[in-house]
Amino acid sequence: MKVFLDSANIDEIKQANDWGLLDGVTTNPSLIAKEMKKGLEFKKILKSILEITPGPVSIEVIGTDYETMMKQALKVSELGNNAVVKLPFTTDGLRATKSLSDKRIPVNSTLIFNGIQALFAAKAGAAYVSPFVGRLDDIGEDGMSVIEQIKTIFTNYEMKTKILVASVRSPLHVLRGMIMGADVVTLPFDVLSKLPSHPKTEEGLNRFLKDWENAFGNMDFPL
Ligand code: E4P
Repeated sequence: MKVFLDSANIDEIKQANDWGLLDGVTTNPSLIAKEMKKGLEFKKILKSILEITPGPVSIEVIGTDYETMMKQALKVSELGNNAVVKLPFTTDGLRATKSLSDKRIPVNSTLIFNGIQALFAAKAGAAYVSPFVGRLDDIGEDGMSVIEQIKTIFTNYEMKTKILVASVRSPLHVLRGMIMGADVVTLPFDVLSKLPSHPKTEEGLNRFLKDWENAFGNMDFPL
């Protein structure tokens, strides 16, 4: 399973990359707006993210009609070889997904909330579908069950589109996604930072170091 960072913050992206955990990045207008409020420029933010990230970077258009979406999407795709155009799942979004996929421009179909939307996006040629699990949990549904449905549907119809688990709020979403066979999970930085730690790992390491210190004091590593 690929691990993407759901962020437009350059420091977070650099850090995830340094940890060797960055397969790609997803952004959205809310995440970009947060960075632009700090005085950073739109194109510069995107260029830096595309440069640092070793894999695909999803960049969302803000147009809602087909023509505007296409105009913005083509500009996004020119930013770098690893740019993926993110389009909302609407009828205009579907039409643009089809046109861009026909031109071999990868599309991430976003704001997916059920299996039917996912199959339609896949039929239009989307490279990724992004079901928002956390936002479904927020309204009392089980977001991860939608991932299970989409996995079954894509297997039934041999769709090549990748399932990207989005709107992730906890390590449990990640674990369940792995078990279900999702292709990608995109994580906010706070969830990514929680994943590698385990109290027993920390406790075990402290014990090893204490035993060493008790035996040899501050002696250097003898090699
Ligand atoms: C996905 O690509 C979206 O950017 C993201 O996962 C939305 O998550 P949120 O519900 O935490 O805003």
